[in-house]
Amino acid sequence: MKRISVACALLYVAAIAVSLRAQQPSSDGPQFVNGNELVRPVNYREWPCVGSSLGLSYLQGAGTQSAPPFTSVFVNPSSYRAFLQSGQWPDHTILVLEIRRSATAASPLTAGQYPTELGGLEAHVKDSRLPGGWAFFNWGPVRSMKASAAPIPQDASIQGEGTCVDCHVTHGAVERTFVQFYPQLMDVARAKGTVKAGFR
Ligand code: HEC
Repeated sequence: MKRISVACALLYVAAIAVSLRAQQPSSDGPQFVNGNELVRPVNYREWPCVGSSLGLSYLQGAGTQSAPPFTSVFVNPSSYRAFLQSGQWPDHTILVLEIRRSATAASPLTAGQYPTELGGLEAHVKDSRLPGGWAFFNWGPVRSMKASAAPIPQDASIQGEGTCVDCHVTHGAVERTFVQFYPQLMDVARAKGTVKAGFR
């Protein structure tokens, strides 16, 4: 009898655990601590890479760089799948921008550039709890990268280029994101009619 009631109690606890899990947002989405501090996802390299670029720059006078930055954008798998279905980002989306330095190919190669060591890691998150529903995060310099970071203030700007938010809202093809540089997703957005009205 005692054994049966212990078994029942265990089943009950397991059922509560399952139902609590079902109430949580997608488990691969953004994780927060201390309110709005975004935890740096350690496994983002297991996520779909939606775009990569070499030497894209919005700084005036950037010109041709000898060692241009190599950037890759990763998105949490459940939001990636949702985008393929709808052409839009669901709530709890996290896009990670990985910045690497680059080097010119050496012997036996004769041309080309390839990514090398990490130069920075930033994120763009869609979460209805955040003011405006979106926020940017930067975990700081590579050598002292933090495990979690507070949102970048909405009015933060880069060297006279305007704020992060302004450029993304004005020029991003889908919502606040630069889907025009993520070719497979741009095809989806065109097919689903989710490219912003003013975007050319
Ligand atoms: C003048 C325009 C401009 C400004 C200002 C700007 N960005 Fe971006 N951002 C871009 C472009 C273009 C891309 C896509 C190209 C790429 O992969 O590098 C991008 C992509 C990103 C992404 C990848 C996800 C996405 O939204 O598409 C993140 C994260 C990001 N930027 C963070 C920031 C942060 C943080 C700031 C402010 C400190 C900032 N950006 C300011 C133009 C801008």
